Amino acid sequence: MSNNRRTFLKNTGLAVLATGISKSSSSEKIKSGNQVVCNPTTLDYYGEGPFYTDNPPEIGDQILGAAGSEGIPLVISGRVLNLECSEFIPNTIVDVWHANHDGQYDNSGFNFRGYTKSNQQGFYLFKTIVPGKYLNGPDFRPSHIHFKITPPGFPLLTTQLYFEGDDKIPGDAAASIDSGTYDASNRIIPLVEDNDGVMQGQFDIVLEGEGMTVGIQDLHIDKGMIYKLAPNPFENELNIKYGVFKKAKVGLLVFDLHGREIAKLEDQELGANKYEASWIPEQNLSSGYYFIALRINDLQVHYQKVFKK
Ligand SMILES: [Fe+2]
Repeated sequence: MSNNRRTFLKNTGLAVLATGISKSSSSEKIKSGNQVVCNPTTLDYYGEGPFYTDNPPEIGDQILGAAGSEGIPLVISGRVLNLECSEFIPNTIVDVWHANHDGQYDNSGFNFRGYTKSNQQGFYLFKTIVPGKYLNGPDFRPSHIHFKITPPGFPLLTTQLYFEGDDKIPGDAAASIDSGTYDASNRIIPLVEDNDGVMQGQFDIVLEGEGMTVGIQDLHIDKGMIYKLAPNPFENELNIKYGVFKKAKVGLLVFDLHGREIAKLEDQELGANKYEASWIPEQNLSSGYYFIALRINDLQVHYQKVFKK
């Protein structure tokens, strides 16, 4: 058991509950073999803030916000992982809300409010716009998205997500905290504009919950990584460049938004080297987001998302 996990359990008084949950033997092996420790997602100092509305709708078609809403298109996706980062947590409720382009919340309806769930591979994704900034006293808060994250059978985590380069972060009472319980540093993510002008952000969530599938997110430095998907978005053929750092049984898998494996691009023993693969989906495959995952032996060590036109 990692120190992170022990501290968290002590703080929440869940130790008794957690010891009663049996984990798969494969996850035990990984824990003792690799001593995996990763940083839990922290709380936000401002908690949920004043603008949460109960009972938000489920996000349909991964689109948060009314069609035609003004703003810069933004896609946030990530994976929900347990505290050792050794397992994904499916069916986690990811409830989000944020201000519109002009910095206003919809306090009478549910525009830019809704929840999605992590899929069978732990992935979640929603499309929205970059939130506007609003005044908090004399100062603007940085652009942010509120999250309430609830893994099945475990407590909810309430926090906020910020974006790198936002000039309001240093002056914000919550976003500027860089140590302790409310440390926001791992919740300030880069946004990268894709070839279609859509801002793309990855927010992996790490919290106490019961994992279902074995996989390690943060160890790609030791084992291998996907370093390029091009073009992204793609139409007919995707080129994937990846590296394997030690001889291993290597798999390159494609998952859809439901977590279904829809292609296996590699499945054999490979030595330490750089490799390329290409994915030419069948003609009738739907347009949308897909996750490409690199598996080394039994572990998915790294993933990236891609948009198929
Ligand atoms: Fe807010």
